[in-house]
Amino acid sequence: MYAEELAADRRSTPRDDILSILVSAEGNDALTNHEFNMFVLLLAVAGNETTRNAISHGINAMIDNPDQWALLRANPELVDSAVEEILRWATPVNVFRRVATCDVELHGQAIAEGDSVAMFYASGNRDADVFEDPFTFDITRDPNPHLTFGGGGPHFCLGANLARLEMRTLFSELARQCETIELTGDVGRLRSYFINGIKTLPVRLTPGS
Ligand code: HEM
Repeated sequence: MYAEELAADRRSTPRDDILSILVSAEGNDALTNHEFNMFVLLLAVAGNETTRNAISHGINAMIDNPDQWALLRANPELVDSAVEEILRWATPVNVFRRVATCDVELHGQAIAEGDSVAMFYASGNRDADVFEDPFTFDITRDPNPHLTFGGGGPHFCLGANLARLEMRTLFSELARQCETIELTGDVGRLRSYFINGIKTLPVRLTPGS
């Protein structure tokens, strides 16, 4: 209903935003009302459920690995590789299911056209053939070919760069201002096969001198 209100508003008064572009698309690009509504829903959910969990997991990883927090504070230029390592470590989307478009054999496993395939990103992100010490949280990890945003196909995460920007902003500012981050209660985890979520993470931030 909210998406429909937005669509009506942008149809009558278009402006320079993504919704105006979506409602004015024509021909093969045009979206039905239902497609538009689902796209707004997808953007809203994909854009917040993932980034805030990535941020919470990142804070938690820094609490568990104070040496990495000290390293980031001492070397703010490490923020980009720290964000990539938080993304690998957190893997906020555990799994997506896709349908194979052709027959293929992968590591000895035959997959037939039309088969449903579940891709466990969290597992790929801890593949010992790809990552040295995959169970070590290392903000200097380079290269870091994590699969957190997908494998790079046509459905690769639309918001990957926005997510990185949000995380970079938050972690560089926190590292600049806070000497320590401590846990003050239990970490509440989301029970879900799909989203690796944190519901509560009570912390105390102590500013640096
Ligand atoms: C850390 C944050 C995020 C994670 C872990 C994440 C993860 C993913 C993954 C795994 C996919 C599927 C990729 C594939 O099938 O190849 C995806 C797709 C998508 N993401 Fe994200 N995402 C994040 C942030 C965002 C943000 C901030 C937005 C938008 C504001 C967003 C919008 C989308 C959309 C629209 C798709 C579907 C793309 C398509 O099917 O063509 N995501 N994301």
